[in-house]
Amino acid sequence: MRKWGISVIVFLLGTHPLLAQVDTTEVDLNHLPAPRLFQIACAQCHGPDGRGYPDGAWRELTALRVPPPDFTDPLFSSLEPLADWIGVIREGGKPYGLSIQMPAFGEALSEEKIRELAEYLKSLGADPRYPPGELAYPRLLNATKPFPESEALWIVWQENRPHRPTIRKATLYWAQRWGPRRQWELKLTPEWSASSYEALEVEVGFKQALAHSLSAQWLLSAGLEAAFYLKGNEPWSLQPYLTGIKGLGERAALHASLRLLYEPTSEEPALLRWVLGGQLLMANRARLLAPAIEWVGERALASGAPLHHRLVPQLFLTPPRRGHVALALGVEFPLHRQASYRYRLRGFLLWEFLEGPFWEGW
Ligand code: HEC
Repeated sequence: MRKWGISVIVFLLGTHPLLAQVDTTEVDLNHLPAPRLFQIACAQCHGPDGRGYPDGAWRELTALRVPPPDFTDPLFSSLEPLADWIGVIREGGKPYGLSIQMPAFGEALSEEKIRELAEYLKSLGADPRYPPGELAYPRLLNATKPFPESEALWIVWQENRPHRPTIRKATLYWAQRWGPRRQWELKLTPEWSASSYEALEVEVGFKQALAHSLSAQWLLSAGLEAAFYLKGNEPWSLQPYLTGIKGLGERAALHASLRLLYEPTSEEPALLRWVLGGQLLMANRARLLAPAIEWVGERALASGAPLHHRLVPQLFLTPPRRGHVALALGVEFPLHRQASYRYRLRGFLLWEFLEGPFWEGW
């Protein structure tokens, strides 16, 4: 039978005057149902309804230095994998890059009780329209990410060509959740060649999650992007796409996307591009290391020009404990003859801004 440690009780009594009325000394918390346990052990910081005092009253009512989250918010609730919440309740906030004021309950509560509490918290914000965060597999360099995200990326791209100057692009990319299943995005891509500024591409996009299943680990989305040049002579384009993900157990995932690049004003108006990717997932709490390989194929639809394809080995990693900042690096090798380039270096730096400031949680 596990009992509360004296230090936890003293700590809790100190956090909120209401708790002084609860005699926890001889209660085995593991016998309480999750909602009751929440009231005794969690509500003084998370609020009696799990909303964490969204009116800002947490400043007066608690001794917290960061606002506790609103567990009834379906967006917040859907984004956090259940396993992470179980981990935070067991080990406390610190190993997850969260506030050290979130205590560890692994000593006081059984593993089953912790899971029950985490599931209870999930039920507060449950809304089946929102795709669950478990399906937000790490972004690959070519396949379009199916999960609707709120994140900012800095994407770099360099093409090394035989006997010609290297081309460099750096994209600023901003994606924002919009409702339960949608996302809009904006990309700005300046392009340099031999240190002269050649072009500026602007792209706006929209994505919608079509269907998903958490138990079968898949998510399918569709989207449309429009790209045009503010500087440079490239034609404008419309790009409808379908993209999906299928998890294979805990440690692997398959990515696939199919995109039509439609350039009404160019000689080759329609190009089909498909991407197949395999990814391994090595997780340590919220931190992740994910090596992957993609096969990218491209074919012009009208002329029946030969298939162009390439292989892209790559690595994705999240250095901070909170897992909200990630880095990816990869190389593209052309597999067809007469490729116009030797190889391309690709990479991005990613920040999920809903998870907090860039510099916190390392
Ligand atoms: C002394 C105050 C305090 C108590 C008691 C407390 N928490 Fe927390 N908890 C926090 C704070 C503060 C955060 C937010 C940490 C952050 O955002 O950096 C948090 C975060 C969490 C999170 C992670 C949410 C996320 O951002 O992913 C979970 C899950 C959670 N608490 C569950 C519980 C449960 C269950 C209990 C009771 C068994 C509990 N907490 C008791 C202060 C507390």
